[in-house]
Amino acid sequence: MVSAVRFLAFQAIEKIMDAPGVGDWDEGVHLEGPDQALFHDIVQGTLRNWRFLEKCVKSHCTRPPKRNMTYVLYTSAYQIIFYDRVPEYAVFAEAKKVAQRIGFSPDEERFLSAVLKRIAENKSNYRDVHEKTLERLRLGGEFQDGDLDILNVSDDLLNLLKKGPKGSFKTVVQCLVQMKKIPAVVGIELPSVTGDKPFEDTVLKKDSAIAPLLSEYRGSSVDGSIFRVQSETSQFSCNLFAKEIKSAFQKGTKKIRILDVAAGKGGKLFGTLLHLYGDANNLGPLEWVATDRSERQLRMLRSEWENAKKNWAVAFDKLEIKSVVHDWKQPFSSDESFDFIWLDAPCTGFGTLAKHPEIALLRGSQPQVAVKELAELQKEMLKQSVEHLKKSGRYFYSVCTLSEAETVGQRDYLEKLLARKSVETRSEWVFWPGSEPAPLSEGFYLTVL
Ligand SMILES: C[S@@+](CC[C@H](N)C(=O)[O-])C[C@H]1O[C@@H](n2cnc3c(N)ncnc32)[C@H](O)[C@@H]1O
Repeated sequence: MVSAVRFLAFQAIEKIMDAPGVGDWDEGVHLEGPDQALFHDIVQGTLRNWRFLEKCVKSHCTRPPKRNMTYVLYTSAYQIIFYDRVPEYAVFAEAKKVAQRIGFSPDEERFLSAVLKRIAENKSNYRDVHEKTLERLRLGGEFQDGDLDILNVSDDLLNLLKKGPKGSFKTVVQCLVQMKKIPAVVGIELPSVTGDKPFEDTVLKKDSAIAPLLSEYRGSSVDGSIFRVQSETSQFSCNLFAKEIKSAFQKGTKKIRILDVAAGKGGKLFGTLLHLYGDANNLGPLEWVATDRSERQLRMLRSEWENAKKNWAVAFDKLEIKSVVHDWKQPFSSDESFDFIWLDAPCTGFGTLAKHPEIALLRGSQPQVAVKELAELQKEMLKQSVEHLKKSGRYFYSVCTLSEAETVGQRDYLEKLLARKSVETRSEWVFWPGSEPAPLSEGFYLTVL
């Protein structure tokens, strides 16, 4: 069974690095508790330390290894260097089994085992360099050659983030150090839906300065439950959105219509409902129009709502959720107007490197290209959707990234579209991991106009 975990980890890395964007890397992987945890840790840990592992491995190779050899080498080197709980001989043996399953030749097998032995001989040195570098950077020490490898980012990505909102070299370095250390997925608990003890010992309540309902989950699987994984910052934005809705009803709005432009699986929708839940009886009629270009995502949203309704329908009896597949590169064929529009936009995701370290390696290798492409899409989505905002309506724009063009750049663009004079009406939040008020959060930007 254990060797299956290593082989699955190899396949996941192959899927991520060779065919990015093909889908979730753990899709179809059904493991139990500790195996699931080990699988996720090997994949994520290898990706988080990719550039460093590359350096360690290459120093023992006379020629660059083939890609699938690279993946076995890196996943194994990661375990050798960073795990205390797995003995080296077990890693060697498992690597050999994976090699045989892939079909490596006897020569390739010998090469693999020779390189891994050299890694093991140098293990304490590698680990020392890694830990000391992160500690020096965390304490604000001088930046040195090779630090980029430890931070696992390209020079271009570091420079791009530096120009982001409130960015500076120092902040960005702290942010990257932090993102290498954030340990777990952060999610929210939907108490009324999931029962008394939704995740029993896997859910740890955690204080958060920005997200009052935050709990942290360290379990291995959320399959089959209604647990919505949303980060601390997402929950912050859901809370804020819920407050705006409540306040609009208090001010006498009879019915509220919301356009959720990129609703996806409905993370923000369910997060907002969670924050509205306690006051649900005081709310008036609420219509939530969830659009997305992905039919698959909206299907997940609807099935989630079907589940949630079993317990929530009474509380939210005046809530109507509609889902509409729409590509916002095109005009929305409806003259409806909305009190609130939320564009939780597709973005480069550079604020989520803790959770998705592969972003640094793939999109992060040519970050300007990715930013340009996504910023254009965001502009289009803003332009098309803003047409449907009521005159007195409020527009929420959020992204989980920290590039200038996708954050403050889009705020300026939206202000122009709305022809609103900024500073009086604008609210804005930038969260950098490693800094107050939410040091363990993802990088996130939200503006409300
Ligand atoms: C950041 S995700 C949204 C997450 C969602 N709001 C949530 O909280 O679960 C961005 C979404 O934008 C959608 N998207 C990307 N391009 C789009 C387009 N041209 N038109 C409509 N939706 C698009 C993607 O399918 C994806 O679901």
